[in-house]
Formats: sequence, C-alpha cells, structure tokens
Amino acid sequence: MDIKWSVLRSVRVLLALVFIVFWIGAMPTNAANYDESKIPRYVLPELLKDQDGTVIESAEQWERIRRPVILRDFQQRVYGEAPSDPESIRYRVDRVIQRALNGQATQKEIVISFSDRPDGPQMTVLLFVPAPGNQPAPAFLGLNFGGNHTIHSSPDISVTSSWVRNDEGAGIKDNRASSAHRGRAAGRWPVEQILQRGYALVTAYYGDIDPDFDDGFKNGVHSLYHAEKKPDRHEWGSISAWAWGMSRIMDYLEQDSDIDEARVAVIGHSRLGKTSLWAGARDRRFAMVISNNSGCGGAALSRRQFGETIGRINTSFPHWFCDNFSWYISREGLMPIDQHMLVALAAPRPIYVASATEDRWADPKGEFLAAREATPVYRLYGLEGIEAEELPEPDQSIGGHIGYHIRTGAHDLKLFDWERYLDFADRHFR
Ligand code: GCU
Repeated sequence: MDIKWSVLRSVRVLLALVFIVFWIGAMPTNAANYDESKIPRYVLPELLKDQDGTVIESAEQWERIRRPVILRDFQQRVYGEAPSDPESIRYRVDRVIQRALNGQATQKEIVISFSDRPDGPQMTVLLFVPAPGNQPAPAFLGLNFGGNHTIHSSPDISVTSSWVRNDEGAGIKDNRASSAHRGRAAGRWPVEQILQRGYALVTAYYGDIDPDFDDGFKNGVHSLYHAEKKPDRHEWGSISAWAWGMSRIMDYLEQDSDIDEARVAVIGHSRLGKTSLWAGARDRRFAMVISNNSGCGGAALSRRQFGETIGRINTSFPHWFCDNFSWYISREGLMPIDQHMLVALAAPRPIYVASATEDRWADPKGEFLAAREATPVYRLYGLEGIEAEELPEPDQSIGGHIGYHIRTGAHDLKLFDWERYLDFADRHFR
C-alpha cells in the first residue's frame, strides 16, 4: 500500500515538473534578437512533401493534395477561419465624380453594408479609375490605416465616419477622423502616378471592417457573428476579418465594368501586408499579391525568431490572430507550416515581397528567405521564382513570378516601392 502511494506521489511530482518545464519553455522572452549568429537552428517544413510522405511532383498534385492542407493549417492555426460569404451584403454606389483630380480620374465611393441591419457595420470603398481610354482597368486594392480622406488631399473624398485609432500612442484615444487629416498619408499613396500608369486604385479604411484593438470581438464585422459568443480558438482574428473584407470589395469590383476583375492586385503595408498575403492566399480571384514590410505573421519566417517573434506579436496584438496561434509561442519548430508556405499559396499568381534595410523588427532576411523558399512551387508551374541565394543589394528588384527588393530606409511604403510594384504589374498584367 505504502509503496503504491509513494510511487503515485513520485509520478505526480514528475508530471508537475514536466508541466513547469513546458510552461516556462512557452513563455515569450522579451528582448528581440537582432544577431544573425543567435538564430536558432531550424529546419523548414517541407513544401513538397505531404504528411503521409507523398512527394508532390506536379502542379496538379500541389493543388489537389498539398495546397489545401497548408491553407487549412494557416486558417486553423494562424489567422482563423472566416465565416462563409454573407448573403445579405449590399452595395450602394454613393457618389461618382466624373472628372476628379483635375480630370485624371473618375472617383467613386461605394458603401458596402455587411448586413441588413441599418445600424450594422459599413465600409466606404474609394475608387479612382484612370481617365477613359483603357477601361476596364487593372487595379491595385489596398486597405488604408487612417481613413480614405488621408490618402490624398482632395476635398472631394468623404471623411470616414468610423473612429480612427491613434496608432502612435498607447491605447485608444478620442481620435475621430477629421477633415484636418486630409492627405496625411499621401506619401504612401502616389495616386497620380498610379493613374498615369493606367491602373485604378481601390481603397477602404481597415477599421471600417474591424477596428484595430482588442475589444473581445464586439465591434466591426465580428459583431455580426459573435454577439453571443467569442470566436472559437480556430476562428478569425482581425487580419482574417480585414482579408475577408477585401474579398467583399472584390465582390463589388466584379460588378464594376470600369475594372478588369481578372487583373486586381492586393497590396498592403505592415499589418496590412500580412493581410494582403492572407487575402491572396484565401481568395484566388486576386491576380497578384504584394506584401510591403509585412514582417512577423506576414512574409518573415517565424522559425528565425529575428526581431518580432510569435511570442511578441501575440502579446502585443493578440486580436490579430486566432487563439490557436498563441500555442506556438516559443514552439515555432512545432508548427507544421512557416511563412514561405504562405507565399507559396499565391502560386502560380505573381507575388512581390519587399523589405526595408532599417526595418529589422520585420526581419528583412526572413522575408527574403520566405519569398525564395516558395520557388519550388512556382517551378511546378514552369515559372521562375527567386534563384538568388543571398539578399540582393539594396534598391534592386529581383525575381520572376516572385519579386523581391530591399529598399534603403525605414519601415514604410514609399514611392520607390510603388514604382517597383507598378513595373511588376506591367510585366505580368500587360
Ligand atoms: C507593429 C507590429 C508589426 C506590424 C506593425 C504595423 O510594429 O509589431 O507586426 O507589422 O506594427 O502594422 O505597423
């Protein structure tokens, strides 16, 4: 009897010890690593080998066997599953200005209501179509951080009616969008240049879809689906909601005869770069994907743990992802996926990943490696990805159907980046 009890006690002590070791192992460390020599040894999960060992040898096998598994892993473990497409969504073309921006474009504002509820969430989509001549036009679709009126100083753009989060400060301030902020983000949106190159520009304020703070999923489109109950561990966080919102914009673009729906590129910077990658992965109507400085949870390989890590991002921005993602804090090596697989989900569509030299938090090298490591999937389609072994020199654009550059400078979306994306689109869209 005594022996039995002491054995039992030892087993319990042992179990408790195992649990404590596991728990400590899963705690995020705070200091970001910026030292290449301190990157843990890692092996990337294989793109072209299925769980049962089947080696993927053709584009057909990739699409039938491997791609669905990887897509599902990102959906269930990282970004979270979005609800199926809504039935009651409504579009209203609110305003059309024929000769906007000194005659350079037709401007439209479209209000998308996500439900039948008159007080339900709505998003206003701003669309500039280049002056007549080459309709239907190819388009860039990107969400903005501060309201449509911030992308250009034109007084004709409606001021967003949503609350805009003050992203610079801590917490949420009373920061209702105001006309004083017209054009504040114009540096990131070279509207005239985009139009002159023959492309339409489509944008909407990301907070119209889901406000960017951790409110327990009570507002934005989440409110329509989670009035009673928080999303489950595998259900959508904000990135997934923003990506889902981009698909709703695409639903509208398919109806607009000024836009060529077969040539719509999704683009995003930073958290919205993570979003454009996910939007492009889950919705193959997007014909091109562009990730600008998207970093952790975007194009950067998680296993490198350089700059921002899964631990840091889940601590600062838990609402961006599904709850399952936090299980991988300090357990990067246990993920069946890494971000090169997210890039590969775009195949065979052209995808462009860009970094900036000073943006170490986003791990430029990890972004480059993820872009390069997606190449084998492009090869299955007979397409060129990235052959370069090393990070290219700053300010040089490389690659075939996978494009890459590292711009000199800070975390930002600059004219230099846009010019590379426009060239890339010219190459693949024309
Ligand atoms: C933070 C965050 C990044 C994100 C960035 C942004 O820096 O840690 O992951 O990309 O914000 O969206 O501006």
